[in-house]
Amino acid sequence: DQTQAAELERTFIAIKPDGVQRGLIAEIISRFEQKGYKLVAIKLVVPSKEFAQKHYHDLSERPFFNGLCDFLSSGPVLAMVWEGEGVIKYGRKLIGATDPQKSEPGTIRGDLAVVVGRNIIHGSDGPETAVDEINLWFKPEELVNYTSNAEKWVY
Ligand code: TYD
Repeated sequence: DQTQAAELERTFIAIKPDGVQRGLIAEIISRFEQKGYKLVAIKLVVPSKEFAQKHYHDLSERPFFNGLCDFLSSGPVLAMVWEGEGVIKYGRKLIGATDPQKSEPGTIRGDLAVVVGRNIIHGSDGPETAVDEINLWFKPEELVNYTSNAEKWVY
């Protein structure tokens, strides 16, 4: 029911322009879906550079910040919210290490990316950033409340 669904953890996941352009949307969504997580919001957007700077504000002092924001705003990004037990931390596990050279095989970046500047996917790194990023990318009414049939078999 909706009360129970509201208690489950949520994270912000985005397929960056390189992942969208390379046709990896279905492959990436499959991994979250097959794990047993539930999709509660999704949209394709081209973020402005200013929006990218907001999203990555924590990294504003890093040398790669400007190039990173240019890259994120260079094309369509698939923005999503996924829900489920432990989804913030385990989502990061599914994604793999920031540098694909260090990501394990079996992870999204390990299997599908080669260099850190084109690592195809973003995932919130903790509970506070998850809330902030969900609120930055989505309006409350874009988060869909529904009971998935799979839930009673996953939990
Ligand atoms: P970061 O938040 O450290 O990693 P993650 O995406 O795994 O949470 O960095 C954000 C993005 O910045 C990262 O996905 C790719 C880019 N980046 C670089 O281009 N060069 C770098 O040296 C680092 C650390 C990150």
